[in-house]
Amino acid sequence: MAEMKTIEPARRGWRGKIDIPGDKSISHRSVMFAGLGDTPVHIRNFLHAADCLSTVGVMRALGVNVEFLNENELIVTGRGFHGLTEPLSVLDAGNSGTTLRLMMGLLAPQSFLSVFSGDASLTRRPMGRVLLPLSEMGACIYGRNNNNNLPLTIIPAGEMLHGIHYNSPVASAQVKSAILLAGLYADAPTTVTEPYTSRDHTEQMLAGFGVHLERTGASVTVFPVAEGGYRAPAEITVPGDISSAAYFLVAGSIIADSRLLLRNVGINPTRTGILDVLMEMGAHIIVQNERTSGGERVADITVETAALRGVSFGAEIMPRLIDEIPIIAVAALFAEGDTVITGAGELRVKETDRLHAIATEFQKLAPGSIEEREDGLVIHGQAKMQRAQVSSCGDHRMAMSLAVLGAAAKGVIIEKPDSVNISYPTFFSEMERF
Ligand code: S3P
Repeated sequence: MAEMKTIEPARRGWRGKIDIPGDKSISHRSVMFAGLGDTPVHIRNFLHAADCLSTVGVMRALGVNVEFLNENELIVTGRGFHGLTEPLSVLDAGNSGTTLRLMMGLLAPQSFLSVFSGDASLTRRPMGRVLLPLSEMGACIYGRNNNNNLPLTIIPAGEMLHGIHYNSPVASAQVKSAILLAGLYADAPTTVTEPYTSRDHTEQMLAGFGVHLERTGASVTVFPVAEGGYRAPAEITVPGDISSAAYFLVAGSIIADSRLLLRNVGINPTRTGILDVLMEMGAHIIVQNERTSGGERVADITVETAALRGVSFGAEIMPRLIDEIPIIAVAALFAEGDTVITGAGELRVKETDRLHAIATEFQKLAPGSIEEREDGLVIHGQAKMQRAQVSSCGDHRMAMSLAVLGAAAKGVIIEKPDSVNISYPTFFSEMERF
């Protein structure tokens, strides 16, 4: 475990090719959904990072066989759609909100007991948003702090869960997915309506397992799985993670004389808000060689240094770039003019309170340049930079954003840099090639 990571200012432009590692959201889902089948699923380009390994650990504890052929390739063999078995001990979701929230939906309909724990960050995050709709379906889930926090206990409901129509107050793929997964086992169709459509990897992948889903606008309905109706595909190839590519999209834009080719990036439209915002800021980005991989759109993306300008965006686009606000804030510090971000209150309940973390830690490098608002940020561009020691706050996306900021400015010393292992273990070695 490294205590600190020092990043020196880039001495030259970043030029070259980067193979973007597998998508975190899709990697989680591939193991979970394959684990409900009864035939082996060969998963390729799996993201070998701490969060996805939390999902592997949980699925193994539920009786699913997971065999790694190498770090990024595995064979998952379930025991059938009703084949999960009672875990012998507490299930550890680690730092992973996706593991915990999606598994709550999968375990609520089961006829055995399960108990969840997680790390300090996950223990602070709200779970009532998932527990509430699942309880409406008839699930019995109990948690600390008025049923809002870990540890959580899931008790057999004693009868089938009921299909519901849930109007979610938040646009959250984790909430939506938990309800849809519980709905697979319910007595009637289940519909989730969101304020704005969140990432739809659950829907896309479940369709590949033979599940019947229907989408209308920001609503999606899942139909309960009939006998023999769940059929695992032989293979899933996970596309590269646009949320990991985002650090290089911004680095390539703001570090002088850069030109990067990012290979195999997932461009599912529910995830490409970062491309829209950067292009509106004036970034030089070319999306090429579009193709399909594992039911998802992928492409290669070229980015070159460009003069950026400030932009304003809000709630509507937020679900499409929810994890990219820290790195967009880095781009904004180098842009001409102000960037105004609203409708971003969800960032306060991520791995850390990201609005506060950005305002506090980024300003150690760019004093006086960021105003923290209740549901967003105002970032003053062309900030005057200095070198400083900062903290990732134990948040992987803060660590990577601070590293790019330091490289593009006067350098940085980052505390708790190992948090990058949550989603991009090779991030520092990748950036140190330049
Ligand atoms: C995720 C959904 C998002 C995102 C998280 C991964 C997923 O969370 O922030 O990193 O895999 O479904 P919310 O849906 O709760 O916003």
